[in-house]
Amino acid sequence: MKFFIDTANIEEIKEAEAMGILDGVTTNPSLMAKEGITGEENVNKHYQDICKIVDGHISAEVIATDLEGMLKEGKKLASLHPNIVVKVPATANGIKAIKKFSAEGIKTNCTLVFSTGQAILAAKAGATYVSPFIGRIDDMNYDGLEIIEQMVQVYANYNFDTEILGASIRNVKHIIECAEVGVDVVTSPLKPLKGLLNHPLTDIGLEKFLADHKKAQK
Ligand code: E4P
Repeated sequence: MKFFIDTANIEEIKEAEAMGILDGVTTNPSLMAKEGITGEENVNKHYQDICKIVDGHISAEVIATDLEGMLKEGKKLASLHPNIVVKVPATANGIKAIKKFSAEGIKTNCTLVFSTGQAILAAKAGATYVSPFIGRIDDMNYDGLEIIEQMVQVYANYNFDTEILGASIRNVKHIIECAEVGVDVVTSPLKPLKGLLNHPLTDIGLEKFLADHKKAQK
């Protein structure tokens, strides 16, 4: 199982990288805007800065929604660094773009995926990753995990090469549930990622071990 961090914040990326378990980064236009990164030049430089911190796949999303625009932007993004993965929405033009990128050896992440049907098309087009948004599905009062579980089963039936990347992670439970059904990658904000380590019995146990050790030294 691979861990990506879902942020464009450099400090958070550095902190997650320092944990020693980070395999990549995902960003999206909202996350870039949150960091105040605007203008093509600044955006591209920001992706390159992230690539210097993490030696793994870094998803960079296209803004264009027409096929020609997606192809132009995607090629530009892919040329920034060999680790860039071009993030493309699960639309009709997006699927066509993924097919073309995959023929040219450009890595892709099919994003904004909310159904197994979309995930099948992404895999057929040759996407490197498919990103089902578990949290946003839950927000609509459907079961995000159930849909991801169905994707895992369908992908296994056909030995699709596309990796399932559990996205829109809101808490530790989402990460564990993704692991339980066998997703390949989870992309999480820093808080749930760090939260995996939290257990009060570890803290209590460590405190007791250290106190006993100290007592024995007297
Ligand atoms: C990841 O690729 C997505 O951009 C991200 O996980 C969306 O998460 P959100 O639903 O919390 O915005």
